[in-house]
Amino acid sequence: MCGIVAYSGVRAASPILLQGLRKLEYRGYDSAGIAIHDGAKIQIFKQEGKVSNLVDTLGDYKTDPTHLNAHAGIAHTRWATHGPPTTKNAHPHPAGEGGRIALVHNGIIENYRGLKARLEADGRVFLSDTDSEVLAQLVDSYYDGNLFEALSSALKEVEGTFGVACMCEDEPGKLLVARRGSPIVIGLGDGETIVASDASAIIKHTRQAIYLDDNDVAVIEGDQVDIRTLDAVPVQRDLASIDWSADAAEKGGFEHYMLKEIYEQPEAIRNAIRGRVNLDRGTAVLSGLGLSPRELVQFQRLLIVGCGTSLNAGLVGEYAVEDFAAMLGEVEQAAEFRYRNPIVGSKDLVVAISQSGETADTLAAVREAIDKGSMVAGLVNVVGSTIAREAGRGIYLHAGPEISVASTKAFTCQVSVLLLVALKLARGRRMSREEGLRISQEVLRVPELVQQVIDTNDAIAKVAEAFTDYEHMFYIGRGYMFPVALEGALKIKEISYIHAEAYNAAELKHGPIALLDENMPVVALMNKGPGQEKTVGNVEECRARKAPVLGVITEGDEEARAACDFTIEIPACPHYTATIVATVALQLFSYHVARLRGCSIDQPRNLAKSVTVE
Ligand code: F6R
Repeated sequence: MCGIVAYSGVRAASPILLQGLRKLEYRGYDSAGIAIHDGAKIQIFKQEGKVSNLVDTLGDYKTDPTHLNAHAGIAHTRWATHGPPTTKNAHPHPAGEGGRIALVHNGIIENYRGLKARLEADGRVFLSDTDSEVLAQLVDSYYDGNLFEALSSALKEVEGTFGVACMCEDEPGKLLVARRGSPIVIGLGDGETIVASDASAIIKHTRQAIYLDDNDVAVIEGDQVDIRTLDAVPVQRDLASIDWSADAAEKGGFEHYMLKEIYEQPEAIRNAIRGRVNLDRGTAVLSGLGLSPRELVQFQRLLIVGCGTSLNAGLVGEYAVEDFAAMLGEVEQAAEFRYRNPIVGSKDLVVAISQSGETADTLAAVREAIDKGSMVAGLVNVVGSTIAREAGRGIYLHAGPEISVASTKAFTCQVSVLLLVALKLARGRRMSREEGLRISQEVLRVPELVQQVIDTNDAIAKVAEAFTDYEHMFYIGRGYMFPVALEGALKIKEISYIHAEAYNAAELKHGPIALLDENMPVVALMNKGPGQEKTVGNVEECRARKAPVLGVITEGDEEARAACDFTIEIPACPHYTATIVATVALQLFSYHVARLRGCSIDQPRNLAKSVTVE
């Protein structure tokens, strides 16, 4: 939620800040703003809506001396939590006499009401409805010539989460950044430092980075970075090297990031499973888990936590661990897990799934599981993210940057890796080498099968044309294909705004079938595998009620085709890998429906890429 960029160095700050904001816009796009220090004073520019609106209000910042002379600045793109998405609520927030302090914030100040009441009682006037302005005013209330002291005093009083950047008129060229629960990465350049909420905003400038830990405060001036605790004790943080290419974070000729990311899946999955399959021994190699077969066999349950698309991937993991390893598998929505005093302990291997590695509920679930004595592993895409670091062990997805708000390649990489986790657990139990080898080979085939689906993109686009005018849809599937139905329904609703519900195909008759008529199309996962004939039977029932049916079927399955009004074909494969292959088909279907409906595909309304609030 919300993106922060900050710059101090030899170049003009504004173009770098704006370019960074564009990269971070997926984190929030309700409003945007920048504050620059021109050597004498701080100037703030902000605007409702996307970053392009902000650029329009700046005039020609590429030649305007105000901007050219400013070598330090902070910037923000907002996803509203407190107060509507208006210009007055946009960051940066000024505070103090003549606006001597400027501050941008990502996160939530939970005790902002009490702090605000106190500051108002001291005569302070607030210009916005945000919790973030309370932090800005609090910093100013402590300011007595030393911004570090003012910020750290303020942050000690704050309950909640923050990634924060601020500067002061009296300390030109100096930036202060800090974090608790919201990510901050500091990019170290030549004569300059670029700070951002994630690496995509800095890779154009540098590959050398430092990830702040919770309660770190960094004082930055040009290329000087001094990191301290809130009590001013100096701390060293490791230097990390960012290996994403700048191209990987660009659209590369595609109309939308989402389409690009769908097309990247064969390569992304190859990267996710590379070096992780041992064909000789018919097992998976997951050194990031740091657990030997002897240790793995001690676990009685695989407990998976996550949210949204990551939760749907987790469901496939549950099916696979029970199917392959005859071991108890369970998936839990991370927010439910954290708040219901879960029964979990040393016999559980807890796997937290997250693309961003920053989802607040998933992070809290990780902490709860650790506190309850469980072994926790992260299955995360973003290297150095909070969940990856706090879990302490885990498996990186290596999917590359996922920019489109709707998750695509992260899901297919998550499922690919979960299949390997299930395989590893199974081989330590009753699964034979031959069976392990067979599953390994099926997993290795996935990139090629996904490519085959992508090659049918034009046919899927054609099918999508028939579905653009509906306002509701059902998705149905059984067994392994049920999580695919959930993910398909999630994808269509978030990017096309068509209301969609997913059911186990058997569940229709227990109520939802009452809604079926010619205005309620049904997308059915009918590819060959266990339970397929039953799903075909359910499809007949849908058509008897005039519901138009789109079947995802196995190539050449004429019987299944005859039961449907429309079909999308996928190559033959076992249901456990079909979860990936069929999902790619549904991603493309959702993409084309949304495109034809003229939706904002990469940045759907009300959403943000990284959900760092509860
Ligand atoms: C849907 C989507 C979200 C995320 C969810 C968890 O397309 O992207 O449902 O999957 O917010 O995010 P991560 O995986 O970053 O924890």
